[in-house]
Amino acid sequence: MRTQVAIIGSGPSGLLLGQLLTNAGIDNVIVERSTKEHVLGRIRAGVLEEGMCAMLDEAGAGARMHAEGLPHDGVNLAFDGSLHRIDLHDLTGGKRVMVYGQTELTQDLMDKREETAGQTVYEAADVVPHDFAGDKPYLTYRKDGVEHRIDCEFIAGCDGYHGAARKAAPEALLKTYERVYPFGWLGIIAEVPPVNDELIYANHPRGFALCSMRSQTRSRYYVQVPAEEKVEDWSDERFWDEIRRRLPDEAGEAMTTGPSIEKSIAPLRSFVAEPLRFGRMFLVGDAGHIVPPTGAKGLNLAASDVRYLFDALQEFYREKSPAGIDGYSARALNRIWLAERFSWWMTTLMHRFPDTGEFGQKIQHAELDYLVQSKAAATSMAENYVGLPY
Ligand code: APR
Ligand code: PHB
Repeated sequence: MRTQVAIIGSGPSGLLLGQLLTNAGIDNVIVERSTKEHVLGRIRAGVLEEGMCAMLDEAGAGARMHAEGLPHDGVNLAFDGSLHRIDLHDLTGGKRVMVYGQTELTQDLMDKREETAGQTVYEAADVVPHDFAGDKPYLTYRKDGVEHRIDCEFIAGCDGYHGAARKAAPEALLKTYERVYPFGWLGIIAEVPPVNDELIYANHPRGFALCSMRSQTRSRYYVQVPAEEKVEDWSDERFWDEIRRRLPDEAGEAMTTGPSIEKSIAPLRSFVAEPLRFGRMFLVGDAGHIVPPTGAKGLNLAASDVRYLFDALQEFYREKSPAGIDGYSARALNRIWLAERFSWWMTTLMHRFPDTGEFGQKIQHAELDYLVQSKAAATSMAENYVGLPY
């Protein structure tokens, strides 16, 4: 098989890049390790920046997001028994975020790909990128016991943190930066109306809590737990008791509880790989970087990577110019580090750390006070939360 751009991974990065390329008449094939159902079964974040929404529209897959997504003009910080609203809309001159689950967005992109006859190979085992240092790269993989090869002009590694692309990068050229946080998030989804019509990020002596949502009737809630915690030890009842204790009374008392339909623990990590380009292979999205979920930047960073790479590839094919490709890594990394900083900052502000002691808690408290008292501080948070420009 031959194509122009071989894409590894059919998560949001691969699907979005693939669709933009297809719409621009640039041939591409997606090679995905899992089944479609498995990809759609993964529960991830659900807060989209306007830049991400615009790209979904550009891909031609934004209609359901506009119809069913929930635009939010603010978020709430909870501490010391009170809720404090950060007015994202006013502080940013009219910007807002869209609450729409990654699962839905992935489904919409898969539907669009099918509609436009984009080619995806699911259940492709042992995907390996080859010869990307030269100008005739190719991918190999195995499906149903048969070896396959895709000759291409570029390889886009959109294959997540555990993918094949970063593993194939020459060790001597790759540098990674990492911080692992000493806690995880225990998250549930339940068919209950959200406790608030906007998100609540809570700093509490018992640990962080987050009240998010997927719709008017479906809630997505999280509590900070120690890194080694086992999900089996958390009955629904224990979860509801714990999250209510971490919220201001008015919110805890107003919370509707019900059976969970999903429950899992995710570790928190900050990670960046540099560079994001190795000859004719690129790293995009989670393949190149991870943020802790506080602030919901993971999916949105994938979108800005795709923006830069798509523009670069289009420039290459339309104008025969390699300038965009040469600049991809530096451009993407600039925005990635800004989002890494924000995600690290918000994580540090909102969680209980085992080793920072009372001094650390006093500083957190002062910073939260500063955020709600100072328009400058709140504006800084708001402009990052709605997403820095790209
Ligand atoms: N070969 C083929 N496909 C692979 C391989 C491999 N060796 N390794 C991983 N994949 C596939 C995964 O099965 C997955 O479908 O690559 C896809 C990567 O998708 P994501 O992990 O979702 O990463 P990405 O598309 O970059 O999405 C950005 O934003 O909200 C955050 O972390 C969240 O997934 C989200 C991310
Ligand atoms: C979510 O809805 O899953 C979510 C929302 C906000 C975050 C993280 C996750 O910061």
